[in-house]
Amino acid sequence: MSDATVFPVPEELAAKAWVDEPRYLEMYQKSVDNPEEFWTEHGKSIHWFKPFTKVKDVSYGPGDVHIRWYEDGTTNVCYNAIDRHLSTKKDDTAIIWEGDDPSEHEYITYGQLHNNVCRFANAMKARGVKKGDRVTIYMPMIPEATYAMLACARIGAVHSVVFGGFSPDALAGRILGCESNCLITADEGLRGGRKVPLKANADKALESCPNVDTVFVVKRTGGDITWNNERDVWWDEACSNADSDCPAEEMNAEDPLFILFTSGSTGQPKGVVHTTGGYLVYAAMTHKYVFDYHDGDIYWCTADVGWITGHSYIVYGPLTNGATTLVFEGVPNYPTASRFWEVCDKHKVNIFYTAPTAIRALMREGLAPVKRTSRSTIRLLGTVGEPINPEAWNWYHEVVGEGRCQIVDTWWQTETGGILITPLPGATPLKPGSATRPFFGIQPLLVDNDGKTLEGATEGNLCIADSWPGQMRTLYGDHERFIQTYFSTYKGLYFTGDGCRRDEDGYYWITGRVDDVINVSGHRMGTAEVESALVAHPKVAESAVVGYPHDIKGQGIYAYVTLNAGEEPSDDLRKELITWVRKEIGPIATPDMLQWAPGLPKTRSGKIMRRILRKIAENDFGSLGDTSTLADPSVVDDLIDKRMNK
Ligand code: PRX
Repeated sequence: MSDATVFPVPEELAAKAWVDEPRYLEMYQKSVDNPEEFWTEHGKSIHWFKPFTKVKDVSYGPGDVHIRWYEDGTTNVCYNAIDRHLSTKKDDTAIIWEGDDPSEHEYITYGQLHNNVCRFANAMKARGVKKGDRVTIYMPMIPEATYAMLACARIGAVHSVVFGGFSPDALAGRILGCESNCLITADEGLRGGRKVPLKANADKALESCPNVDTVFVVKRTGGDITWNNERDVWWDEACSNADSDCPAEEMNAEDPLFILFTSGSTGQPKGVVHTTGGYLVYAAMTHKYVFDYHDGDIYWCTADVGWITGHSYIVYGPLTNGATTLVFEGVPNYPTASRFWEVCDKHKVNIFYTAPTAIRALMREGLAPVKRTSRSTIRLLGTVGEPINPEAWNWYHEVVGEGRCQIVDTWWQTETGGILITPLPGATPLKPGSATRPFFGIQPLLVDNDGKTLEGATEGNLCIADSWPGQMRTLYGDHERFIQTYFSTYKGLYFTGDGCRRDEDGYYWITGRVDDVINVSGHRMGTAEVESALVAHPKVAESAVVGYPHDIKGQGIYAYVTLNAGEEPSDDLRKELITWVRKEIGPIATPDMLQWAPGLPKTRSGKIMRRILRKIAENDFGSLGDTSTLADPSVVDDLIDKRMNK
């Protein structure tokens, strides 16, 4: 290995793991040389009502783009996640729920999970929800969130989970965006000791969603809420009146399982569609190999079910493997910065998966909050969502894992359904900051801006050649945008939107987005969304939003704002605009910096030169590049002059 810091795989781990390095190389080769055979074998790891005979039918264009896996097989995701385990694991814990308050927790066995999910599935049916309907889930991290997802899968309804931190407007946009007529929520959420008014937000959102005729409400806090008798139904009442027998619907492998809205580089969030069979095969398989999951392991992914990580690696992957998966309602620093590690000790967690932003935030709190816990049960540590800086990687490795635990830095996206580039614990020597090597079946390519494939150690735009079963199939209601976004920039390839470096050992180092998407605390935010929220304010004429390096969040949101003629900049107005964006989209979109811009750098044809704005936001004034094509080059000097916190 060429790089100075390489962490070899401990021998005893390689011996116990599902795959060691020779086995990885052998399986990987087979997966790319003969994908049909490879994916036939692994497709059989889930239960099929009717086995598939066709494995793969994929075209990345030009023209028609279609992606189909196991297309003539029938299965049910909920059946795989629950029923299949009942004969051997009925009394084993499927879900450990840890409340926001450390005094609250609950163990849910596979038998209980089955009962709860079936009852709720019948409750939905009783309100007319049927196969193919879209159901929006806007919930806190409580067991019912997972029941709701699984119940949808059971009856063939397509869920769209909306993160509980999103605003009423953002929720309404997503309900309308997938034409859903049923919403599942709670009275209030609880995070870090604070209440989140979910039902009130939902009521507000529904003012613009007249087609929603049913709202199931879980009583979480018992707080005051308003009630619409026609439309609103208490979860508990609906379930106590429902039968616990609900056969799982036989679904075609290519029937949609869920929609998840995610930010793009332009316009409003897009509804990524994942289907049934291939998604499940891929989620379960990656969960098994990447986390080296073995029967009996206690597994905890700290994500929220509102994101793809929660879908694939809290719910579908782990449960399909019969795992015990921990669902955490709270936040890393409540009541104290020891919380994550206390929960690991309390529930004897073996595999722990979180985001670099959480690691950096906890790192700032020093050693004491970690050291006062044992963490002795933890065997494996994972990260996801954004590049992890080597400093945070080392802290995670040395302090949290005491040098004992392998780290899996997993690179993937909402669109990919599951992990694509990652170490495998028993097989991959680690380099801090690198997502290392491709998972089985994944062929990463680096291409230059002209679409030329680059060989060897190099840097370029990250594309993937060929398909894998967990890949998204379309954007809801907009297949053309799907083709445009992912398959048009580089012909015949899936374009990820990420930049990436490959080193001499063939290791991949993700460098971040190359489009107008920013990654704030591991959450994707479209600059266009923040801009459109800002210009919706009556005093704002124009705005341009870019990302800039942020110590904890990875990237922060930097907004340039031009006010309408006659409006005066002031600190009060700055605060007002920041609050406005929070309210329009949600707290994760809060601008970290807002600079007044009497003018924005534009080309003569009126295109905003974001490259320049990014450099100014990064405090990097030396390399602005050519500004001579600007309509008015003097605006740049003015912006540099007034750069915030220069
Ligand atoms: O830029 C990459 C970054 O997160 C983006 C995907 O975001 P999202 O769809 O919200 O999914 C996040 C969780 C899977 C990617 O395009 N990203 C994700 N994981 C990593 C990463 N960047 C670097 N290293 C990672 N491990």
